[in-house]
Formats: sequence, structure tokens, C-alpha cells
Amino acid sequence: MRRVAITVNGTRREAEVEPRELLVYFLREHLGLTGTNVGCDTTTCGACTVLLDGKSVKACTLLAVQADEREVTTIEGLATNGEFHPLQRAFHEHHGLQCGYCTPGMIMAALSLLKENDELTEDEIRAGLEGNMCRCTGYQNIVKAIQSAAGEMLPAGA
Ligand code: FES
Ligand code: FES
Repeated sequence: MRRVAITVNGTRREAEVEPRELLVYFLREHLGLTGTNVGCDTTTCGACTVLLDGKSVKACTLLAVQADEREVTTIEGLATNGEFHPLQRAFHEHHGLQCGYCTPGMIMAALSLLKENDELTEDEIRAGLEGNMCRCTGYQNIVKAIQSAAGEMLPAGA
């Protein structure tokens, strides 16, 4: 077992983990943060996307020990004082989800994209989300939601 200390959604969390444990299972099973979904376990679907030190990563591709002494943000960390993050609000308002399984990963991937550039074209958004699959929506409203949220987000990507 290895001891890790990972700051998750602003709180330092310490635990003993097996060296082979994936970050996504650390989040879901050790911390109960089940908003981060598992769709494939093989780095294909993007349902497990979180931010690691502010950049999107697939949490099924990373070991928990690789996140030791680093910062992770999950979908549960986005709302503040009970208020949705602009991306969460936009997905709701623009019907950017149906079953919702892909949604946490989509939102975290979009957040990472918009932090780098909040003036993305539709094509750039689509290219940026290539690693995130949705079986329900046809992507149209997901792109619309991200375009709408981009206008509301602060330049720093808050
Ligand atoms: S569960 Fe990680 S990419 Fe599908
Ligand atoms: S809303 Fe169902 S997978 Fe995207």
C-alpha cells in the first residue's frame, strides 16, 4: 500500500491505496465522489474526465499515486454556494444532456478547453471534445451549451 495526499475540490484527502488503483476508483470508492463516471475503463469515452492541476485528464488512465501531492477537481467541485457553474447552467438551459452519463466528463473537458481559450469556434469545440463520447444527444446541444457558457465565464476560466 502507498500513502497519498491528494487535494480534491480544495480539500486535502489522505489515504492508503494500492499502487495499481486508478484515480477514478479512488475518487468514487474512497471519497464517494460518484459524479465521475466510468464508461469504458480504456481511455475511450471520457466519462471519467476530471481536472488535474487545472487540465483535463481521464481518471481511468491515471493511477491515484500519480495524483499524489497534486490538485484534482471533479464535477462536485464546480458549484459554489449552491449555485451552478456557468457550464452546468448552460448544459441545463440548452438541453446538453439526455441520460446524463457523459455530462460530468463533458463539462470537465469543456472547462479545461475554455480555461485555455474562451473564444473557441464551433469546430474547435468539437475537436476539443473528441475524447468525450455521448450516445444520446448528437452533440449539437452540447456544443451550443459550451458556446453559451464561454460568454459567461471570466477570462481566467473561473
Ligand atoms: S472511463 Fe475513462 S475514458 Fe471511459
Ligand atoms: S447524454 Fe447520454 S451519453 Fe451523453
